[in-house]
Amino acid sequence: MARRKIIAGNWKMNMTPSQAVALCDTLKDLVATDEADVVYCVPAIDIVPVVEAVKGTNVEVGAENLYFEDKGAYTGEISAEMLVDAGVKYVIIGHSERRDYFKECDCLLNKKVKQAFKAGLIPILCCGESLEQREMGVTMDWIRLQIKSDLTGVTADQVKEMVIAYEPIWAIGTGKTATTGQAQEVCKGIRDCIAEIYDTDTAEAVRIQYGGSVNAGNAAELFAQPDIDGGLVGGASLKADFGKIVNYK
Ligand code: 13P
Repeated sequence: MARRKIIAGNWKMNMTPSQAVALCDTLKDLVATDEADVVYCVPAIDIVPVVEAVKGTNVEVGAENLYFEDKGAYTGEISAEMLVDAGVKYVIIGHSERRDYFKECDCLLNKKVKQAFKAGLIPILCCGESLEQREMGVTMDWIRLQIKSDLTGVTADQVKEMVIAYEPIWAIGTGKTATTGQAQEVCKGIRDCIAEIYDTDTAEAVRIQYGGSVNAGNAAELFAQPDIDGGLVGGASLKADFGKIVNYK
């Protein structure tokens, strides 16, 4: 069965609650489609107003992070249960900005992935190499290590439901998109890695996105690749252009 495309915006640390509602309003008709899943991953403070603003539309809401404990004395953190109760369906885990600026390691990310599943959230697990790693020729070794570590103890049935986002760090926010060939090659490598850890059924089911300077001009070619099941979009998800990316065909 063909995998359904999933096109998600990662708003990062942008949009105040009132700006978020205004953006939902602007995008509402532009992102309407039956052909792909559309997700807005938004800052924690925007979740409640955005869930309200997209009610009755085709848009699902995602969080950009969660904490791995159920509840308790973890000042400043947000639990999976809180996200679910607020109407969140997806959660980004392991974005390179969190790995880099907030020192989130694979051991922590593995706990977050398991916590997301425990609560019924769908993780969008990010992986990707630095420019230095690409130039050293260790891209796939690095990504396989990330995937294997982050999915330790995660079952095949869970992996079938989740999303993996390949985001080369050098392509994020730089306007420097990976070539279609580079993006397809790594997304296929990730699928092969899933087949090795689990089985071919699981590898065929898991949805793999590309992220890194996706825009209205390059989305169609990227998303047409056999192993690219949509995109995780940063900057361009905050503009009317996101409608063109969602309706890329
Ligand atoms: P840009 O689309 O702004 O390059 O960001 C990509 C990204 O980090 C999505 O998670």
